[in-house]
Amino acid sequence: MKIAIANDQGGFKFREELLRFLKHHKHQPIDCGSVYEESVDYPDHAIEAIDMVLNGNADRAILICGTGIGMSIIANRFQGIRATLAYNKKVAKLSREHNNANVLCLGGRQFNSVQMLLIVDAWLTTEFSKEKRHKRRLKKIEKYAMI
Ligand code: RB5
Repeated sequence: MKIAIANDQGGFKFREELLRFLKHHKHQPIDCGSVYEESVDYPDHAIEAIDMVLNGNADRAILICGTGIGMSIIANRFQGIRATLAYNKKVAKLSREHNNANVLCLGGRQFNSVQMLLIVDAWLTTEFSKEKRHKRRLKKIEKYAMI
């Protein structure tokens, strides 16, 4: 899969490890920065990764800031983006099964790299459920978002 990655200073410490992990699992990461440890504004990097997904240049995106909250707020502003904020493996899995989440937001200051990779792995390897009710609910979200 092509996976756009964006981070601010809160996610900086995970970026190299995440890029390595994705390459190791035969994914194609697309690095949207920030490549510096210095303070940046997370929406500036988030938007690049979100654009990749919206334009079809990436299948999914992973956004990391200190809490993951700001990243999830901006991502979910865009129609067609289904961003999840996941602090554990179970939620990451459910966000794929029930919500077909195409963006994963992580709180880089909330866990260590082992926990982070477990969450990422669960999210990448879980498919959207075939049960009709989940699709129906997502369709309603898109419909109500147009109002
Ligand atoms: C940056 O200090 C911090 O606000 C950011 O990383 C993130 O946690 C925002 O939601």
